[in-house]
Amino acid sequence: GKDGYRHYMEKELHEHPVVIGQTLQRLIDPATRRVVMPDLPFDLAAIPRAVITACGSAFYAGMIGRYWIEQYARLPVDIDVASEMRYRNPPLANGGLGLLISQSGETADTLAALRGMRAAGQHIVSVLNVEQSTMARESDAVLGTVAGPEISVASTKAFTAQLSVLACLTIAFARARAAIDAAQEERMVTSLLDLPSKATEVFERHDEIRRMAAIVAGARDVLYLGRGAMFPVALEGALKLKEITYIHAEAYAAGEMKHGPISLIDSTVPVVATVPSGPLFEKTLSNLQEAKARGGRLLVFTDMAGAPRLREIAECVVAIPTVDEFVAPILQTIPVQILAYEVALIKGTDVDQPRNLAKSVTVE
Ligand code: BG6
Repeated sequence: GKDGYRHYMEKELHEHPVVIGQTLQRLIDPATRRVVMPDLPFDLAAIPRAVITACGSAFYAGMIGRYWIEQYARLPVDIDVASEMRYRNPPLANGGLGLLISQSGETADTLAALRGMRAAGQHIVSVLNVEQSTMARESDAVLGTVAGPEISVASTKAFTAQLSVLACLTIAFARARAAIDAAQEERMVTSLLDLPSKATEVFERHDEIRRMAAIVAGARDVLYLGRGAMFPVALEGALKLKEITYIHAEAYAAGEMKHGPISLIDSTVPVVATVPSGPLFEKTLSNLQEAKARGGRLLVFTDMAGAPRLREIAECVVAIPTVDEFVAPILQTIPVQILAYEVALIKGTDVDQPRNLAKSVTVE
């Protein structure tokens, strides 16, 4: 049941802290504070390249995974949505890794991409929530997300669980490739283990998110922005809004705004940006200033460290705990998903069963 929540989506949003914790528990030894991968039938250090593919929210989790694996493990990663990947027939590296991500393990396009990569000789690792699924049976190894059943059609907790797995895989790759040292690994693991308590604190920002939702609910179009690993967070936010509120939303890499979508900006198109402190903060801030100069209403997600600067220019600021740059995309996803839920409440849409959508799409 819904445990007293109005919708499964609301219940599942509140499960983020627990789900992140449970997923990490499987992959991190608390005594040594080291990532412990299940036995893999190949050597991580010998993987020359990885290809990530998935659909929907799982694809955006994969985009963050690519960012991490390239950044921290220095392993080249290619990524595409499964419906494109399955027909692209890209040249694949000998002994490469095919990394699939799926909540259900049954999505037809992702399964077809898995089979194509297997036929092309790739090692197949799947990040799955349903561990007795078709994709699980056809993979060399399964990394489980311990999210429990996800009933809401719009994915929430499965997404942060997927990110938790991908973060651990990144650390395992980085260690295997000697791209990080022990101190760096410990810092990354500690930042992961702190996430469940930090995620709980995000729910203290509910009033500010509701204020933002009141503005978004009145709009016909919304632009979401983010840079680096926050770009997929923006994509996830825009997808969630479209799925459950039927408001048109588009996400852009913040630096790309000036190459087109800036022409859309006026006072009727709110700009929702995810801008935590960190190396890309100043760059994204200047993109926001450009939007504001065109009359854009700025609604910003940031952290405590970034909030003072953003309060000078933004109409709404939601500041969540400041965390290590590595794990920031996991935490920043939560308020962005809550925003879509709050807008849906105002709009009165069918939150758990949006029109035209199915939880698992098993046809092409
Ligand atoms: C879509 C759902 O159809 O399938 C999305 O509406 C989901 O929410 C996507 O992210 C992929 O599903 P799965 O089960 O492969 O993660």
